[in-house]
Formats: sequence, C-alpha cells, structure tokens
Amino acid sequence: MKILLTGKTGQVGYELERSLQGLGEIIAVDRSQMDLSNLDQVRDVIRAVKPNLIVNPAAYTAVDKAESEPELAMRINGEAPGVMAEEAKKLGATMIHYSTDYVFDGIKRDSHGEYQSYTESDLPNPINIYGKTKLAGEQAIKNSGCTHLILRTSWVYSAHGKNFLLTMLRLGNERTELKVVDDQWGSPTWAGWIADTTAQLIQGPSDAPLDADEVNSRLLEIGGIYNFVNSGYTTWCRFARQIFADAALEGRFLRTSEPKVLPISTLEYPVPAARPSNSRLSTTKLQALLSSPIPNWNQSLKVCIGQIS
Ligand SMILES: NC(=O)c1ccc[n+]([C@@H]2O[C@H](COP(=O)([O-])OP(=O)(O)OC[C@H]3O[C@@H](n4cnc5c(N)ncnc54)[C@H](OP(=O)(O)O)[C@@H]3O)[C@@H](O)[C@H]2O)c1
Repeated sequence: MKILLTGKTGQVGYELERSLQGLGEIIAVDRSQMDLSNLDQVRDVIRAVKPNLIVNPAAYTAVDKAESEPELAMRINGEAPGVMAEEAKKLGATMIHYSTDYVFDGIKRDSHGEYQSYTESDLPNPINIYGKTKLAGEQAIKNSGCTHLILRTSWVYSAHGKNFLLTMLRLGNERTELKVVDDQWGSPTWAGWIADTTAQLIQGPSDAPLDADEVNSRLLEIGGIYNFVNSGYTTWCRFARQIFADAALEGRFLRTSEPKVLPISTLEYPVPAARPSNSRLSTTKLQALLSSPIPNWNQSLKVCIGQIS
C-alpha cells in the first residue's frame, strides 16, 4: 500500500510519519514538495505518486492570522483537501483528513444551561475564518464522493513544533506570574495519540499486515466524521496549571519554582479571531472503534512531557 502523507513538518505529520511505519510505503512530503496553496501542484503530485491512501494533516493553522489572510487560508484548508479528495476518488484511493473543534460555535448547552459535548451529528457553525475554511475542506471532501475519514481534533500539542505546552514551559522560566484564559473549555490532545490512533483505525482489529484493497474496504466500512480528541476536558488556565505541576514533578524544565497561573476571561485577552467557549467533543463514536479506553488529556500530557528532550 502506498501512503501519501502531507505536512510532515507539523505536529501531527511528524508523529504520523512514525506511527504509519509498517502499514505501507510512506511518501511523506513537506511544503517544498507539495504546496497546498498551489492546487495544480497538489494534483500533479498525487497523479505522480498514485497513492492508495492520502493522509492530510497539513493545514493553515494560524487561527488569528487567518482573519487577515482569508483567501490563502481557504485555498489551503478549504480547496486543497477537495482537490486531494477528487484525485483520490479517481484513483480509487481513500483519504484521511484532520479537522477541528472550531467548526462549532461553542454555545451548545443543556436545558439547565450547562455546556454539552458536541457530537458528530451536531450542525457546525464556525465563528472564525479558520473554522470556516476547515468546514469548507470537510464539505469538499464529502462532495467528492471518495472514501474518507474526517477526524476532528482540538487543542493539539506535542514535544515538537509550536504549541501551548511548549509556550507555557518557556514562559514559566521567564515569568513568575502568568494570566491564562479560564472560560474556554476543550480537550487538549497529544499529537502522538492522534497519530497512533490514526494507525489503529487503518489497521483495525487484524494483526496481519493489510493490503491496499483491505484497507480501502475497512475505511469504507468505518468512513465518515469522528471527534478525535483525548477524553476529559479543561480550560486553558487549568491546562497550564497541570503543565507546570507535571513539569515540576519531572524536575528538568523549570529553573525556579512553578509560576503562579491567574485565571482571566476571554474578554481580558483580546485576539483577532473569536474562539468557541465550549469546545467539548463527545468521543462515544470513536471509542466504539477502539480496543482500549481513550486516554484522559492529563494522562497523555504526562507521556508527552516525558518525551520532551
Ligand atoms: N494545532 C491545533 O491546536 C489544532 C486544533 C484542531 C485541529 N487541528 C488540525 O489538526 C491538523 C494538524 O495540525 P498540527 O497541529 O499538526 O498543525 P501544525 O503543527 O501547525 O502543522 C501544519 C503543517 O501544515 C503545513 N503547511 C502549512 N501550510 C502549508 C502549505 N501551503 N503547503 C503545504 N504544507 C503546509 C506546515 O508546513 P510548514 O512546516 O512548512 O509550515 C506543517 O507541516 C490540521 O488539520 C489542523 O487544522 C489542529
């Protein structure tokens, strides 16, 4: 089986290049080899490689910058996945694509006013440009008619790249006090878990290596949209506190004592793009496909912190 993997320099792409080993021949490309803002190049690369499976974690992920670059963000997140899916359909290939909790508006509540988790059947209603472009990508893939998995993840961090975990560890050494937003709820999700769980979905329950046709029929059987996050939920402020508590236990990150983390509201931290207040995603549909429980976000955080060199 030939697997075309995009975005190999990103958090999820980097981990996928490791997790997908053993499932087939991996052709991992970066922006210099396949620029998603160049739709002709996207087509040409897929026609040249002729993959059986396209795995696409590449995306325009600068949520605030997208507000001032909507066309570029739409080409990369909305149109390029559609081109990939059209080409996949022509080749009889399957596509695995990553999307986001930011397709939702974050206002889902029960009759008592408590936040509720979004399920895969809830209607998206993005409140920022990034979310609109990612939703357009989802729709383009669905419209292509190719066999696909769309995996909606959230608050991604890893031991590499640009993310909240590494930013907090840096700031924790520079400041004694940090103010962090405490009224947005979501599930921090480790890129290593995303990659390993993607490989599990491809492989399924079989221990034997699968060929391309077997993978295609398996993904056809389970195809569709999945919420794809670590279990449990928290706020950015509580996430930051957990990072410092775990980092202090590891003993090798903080030069002095843990910084004080003070809760603030979204209104006190103005940024260009609006964020949903409630990003909680139900994982019931995904859990039914997995042989072990989805780890809680703070379990995965400990594993990831242990991997930072
Ligand atoms: N990060 C999050 O918190 C988060 C939350 C929810 C959903 N997601 C989704 O999860 C997926 C993986 O995200 P991530 O955290 O791994 O993102 P990331 O670390 O920001 O990596 C993005 C990847 O996309 C590549 N890329 C950007 N523009 C490109 C272009 N024009 N052509 C080709 N490649 C391009 C980047 O390449 P360069 O290294 O060259 O820039 C990088 O490899 C994405 O679909 C994202 O929308 C992420």
